[in-house]
Amino acid sequence: MKNLVILTGAGMSAESGISTFRDAGGLWDQYPVEQVATPEGYQRNPTLVTNFYNERRKQLLTVRPNRGHELLATLERQFHVTIITQNVDNLHERAGSTHVVHLHGELTKVCSSRDPNDPRYIRELKPEEYEVKIGDLAGDGSQLRPFIVWFGEAVPQIDIAIGYVEQADILVIIGTSLNVYPAASLLHYAPRQAEVYLIDPKPVDAHTSRPIQVIQKGASEGVAELIERMVP
Ligand code: APR
Repeated sequence: MKNLVILTGAGMSAESGISTFRDAGGLWDQYPVEQVATPEGYQRNPTLVTNFYNERRKQLLTVRPNRGHELLATLERQFHVTIITQNVDNLHERAGSTHVVHLHGELTKVCSSRDPNDPRYIRELKPEEYEVKIGDLAGDGSQLRPFIVWFGEAVPQIDIAIGYVEQADILVIIGTSLNVYPAASLLHYAPRQAEVYLIDPKPVDAHTSRPIQVIQKGASEGVAELIERMVP
């Protein structure tokens, strides 16, 4: 079976009702990034940041995977599929995808605020625990923090992600403006002979001269068209 690698961004979850970041009215229009998505912002006001992620985490209980997520999960029948997502929601998993790499962390998980990547203190919250409070502690006694990669922090999964892209027969990019690095650089690691598709309702500058098959549609319609083109 061919290796199919899929890089997704916020647009993948837009049709599930989760706001993207840089579209008009997106999350970064509503909240200042430096206040809610940087380690400095967390140091300055841990309550504000904890509540910001509490709201986004609780929203997960009210949304569900869209058709695009579901169609991607069905591709595991014909391909070795690896989903590399910038999204912190759990919609790929809930749609049935079994191999998902989260580059920017996961909303449903919390970790130590002393060492966010210490595996001993990373854990999945049960839905009834989705409201984290100041005073809730990790196993090392530090304040429990969202298991999210903030701007300026290391992206521990990037090397694993590069390894998968280097083995791709087909690379599909869905719903990302390719503005944020190192995620946006992954395309450059695809083998020369790999086929590359990009699904997005708007034109996206992929910063490359290599040929890309663009499907200028939303995720659900776009993945359906992708499957028609890929699966004979
Ligand atoms: N289907 C597919 N794509 C869509 C849809 C849709 N229904 N609606 C919007 N899009 C596209 C937009 O055109 C845009 O290209 O999704 C993309 C969203 O881009 P961003 O909002 O920049 O989101 P993303 O690229 O995932 O941001 C990357 O930035 O703030 C950080 O950590 C955050 O992971 C995030 C990273």
